[in-house]
Amino acid sequence: MNLESILFSQGFGSRRQCRAMIVDGRVAIDGAVLSDPATDLSAAGLTFSVDGTAWPYREFAYVVLNKPAGYECSREPQHHLSVFNLLPPPFATRGVQCVGRLDQDTTGLLLLSDDGKFVHALTSPKRKVPKVYVATTRYSLDDAQLDALRSGVLLHGEPKPVAAVAAHARATHTLELTVLEGKYHQVKRMVAAAGNRVEALHRKRIGGLTLPEGLSEGTWQWLDDAALASLRGG
Ligand code: URA
Repeated sequence: MNLESILFSQGFGSRRQCRAMIVDGRVAIDGAVLSDPATDLSAAGLTFSVDGTAWPYREFAYVVLNKPAGYECSREPQHHLSVFNLLPPPFATRGVQCVGRLDQDTTGLLLLSDDGKFVHALTSPKRKVPKVYVATTRYSLDDAQLDALRSGVLLHGEPKPVAAVAAHARATHTLELTVLEGKYHQVKRMVAAAGNRVEALHRKRIGGLTLPEGLSEGTWQWLDDAALASLRGG
């Protein structure tokens, strides 16, 4: 693949913009500037740099973000900043999207990708991928609330009760629960239906992937092969 096509595929702008970046000497490989857009390269495993920042070539982008509160999972946010403000611009340009949405005030594990099959596999209701949340509640948790969450609560607009596959109190006001769906405000609505109220919500796990411990709030990293396998059930 030629260098211009590589930059274009990675989201560095239009073909004309990518060509200009190369001709202007902003692109290098192993410290050597490559100023010919037609330079033919093997893309697999390639790392190039743009303005000194290294960028690995990836056919698809798979990213984990530790989402802070106050960011919307939309490229066109209504009232807050977008999670895309926390990511390098090429991700949005190449069509990376959130793998299921978190509310603006929810923190924690957010996946993003431009691989439509991957997004579908993790968000399709049929796949029933478990999502683990930790909720801080306004009132003390009790057995009746936990039983209601486990056996199923009726949510407005839903034909059938929705149940958590696991729910336990980690402390008087800290609930850990696992759900298989990704309905709008699902955890908040379930907890409200069980007679309590969510004050803060954090997602810690999707499928086999736990939010990496060293990933501080507001930062992101590429998913490695092991992380992808844990999400694909491997
Ligand atoms: N459930 C909610 O209520 N909010 C989220 O952000 C995620 C799950």
